[in-house]
Amino acid sequence: MVETNEAMMGIFSDRLQQVAPSPIHTFSEAVSDVPNILKLTIGEPDFAVPEHIKAAAVAAIAADDSHYSVSAGSLALRKAAHQFLLTRYALDFQPETEILTTVGATEGLYTLLSAVLNPGDEVLIPTPAYPVYAEMTRLNGGQPLFVDVSDEAFLLTPDRLRAILATHQQVKAMILTNPSNPTGATYTPDELKALAAVLKETAILVISDEIYSELQYDGVHASMATYLPEQTIVVNGVSKSHAMTGYRIGILAGPAALIAQINKVHGFVIMTPSNPAMAAATEAFNCDRSLIDTQAMKAAYQTRRDFLVTELTALGFEMVRPNGAFYIFAKIPADLTQDDVAFAYDLVAREQLAVVAGSGFGPGGEGYIRISYAAAMPVLEEAMSRLKNYVANTRIAV
Ligand SMILES: Cc1ncc(COP(=O)(O)O)c(C=O)c1O
Repeated sequence: MVETNEAMMGIFSDRLQQVAPSPIHTFSEAVSDVPNILKLTIGEPDFAVPEHIKAAAVAAIAADDSHYSVSAGSLALRKAAHQFLLTRYALDFQPETEILTTVGATEGLYTLLSAVLNPGDEVLIPTPAYPVYAEMTRLNGGQPLFVDVSDEAFLLTPDRLRAILATHQQVKAMILTNPSNPTGATYTPDELKALAAVLKETAILVISDEIYSELQYDGVHASMATYLPEQTIVVNGVSKSHAMTGYRIGILAGPAALIAQINKVHGFVIMTPSNPAMAAATEAFNCDRSLIDTQAMKAAYQTRRDFLVTELTALGFEMVRPNGAFYIFAKIPADLTQDDVAFAYDLVAREQLAVVAGSGFGPGGEGYIRISYAAAMPVLEEAMSRLKNYVANTRIAV
């Protein structure tokens, strides 16, 4: 092993020094070695990738599809993504100019922020939110502007948006997650329309993270791009909808002139995604079959959500009933410790059950826990039995 020269530790950028590792992954890895641990931490679908999708990746390899694609990604994939967005959400992005294929939604988000941020620019992030947004913002020289929306059913309202914009002139972009990780909250068309009316009067870019769009339970997923097309970039992909997190394919969709600029960064950073993964994602986005794949998974998630909501409510947890994604963001009952980090570690120590402390999701997350239900029913049943024991043994008088 090579010794670290301490002087070398000074080489890292000021931006990197401001960045913290993901609290979710840090905690999840820290508790991995606990014997008999049951983890409901990571947002990783537990389903297998449908066979016809796997076959498409295998066929690409067998056919020697081994050369660089263009940086926007294969046209076949962009055409399939176009059909998917059109058929499912009535979004009509042109495959040749308005869609970019990325290495998961993650690369899309990073590339996008890198393309637009100057030092000091603010990125408005309604919280509790996916922690990656703030760290990516900092890595790209920007400043996260957290707006706690926990008191309005975890949704940003036009009044709150107007108020925050009145006092912050440096806001360059806003990240809207719909459906939300960690809360499962979803926006209705009218709610998006009202936000769009405020944003239209600004030059703020909306980064609309719709990676959970196929996992909305009641109502139909609505996209910000429908109401604010000139100022919105949609982030989506196959990771959550088709249980393809390890394939690493996402998409960005938006106005051609913006996509062309973003593609400059994308091309320099990753050149192009991998061909077998793109072939698989092309098959996944094929709409006739896509619905069959995603609807079955969604039905299973919904059953799990209903089970957890009932169980958690009986134990005294309060929550806004999640309408999307596969997370429940639950308020710790008043007769248990209100320190969510202490709660998470204590739950591991006493019952070997891992959930994520809410404060890692930013302002408004304190006193909550996030439970991922991307896990089979028997696992969730066992988890609730352990939680029941924990609550019975640690209740305090209030
Ligand atoms: C809100 C949100 N956006 C993006 C991602 C990352 O998606 P991908 O695996 O496609 O990079 C996640 C993963 O947990 C997520 O929860």
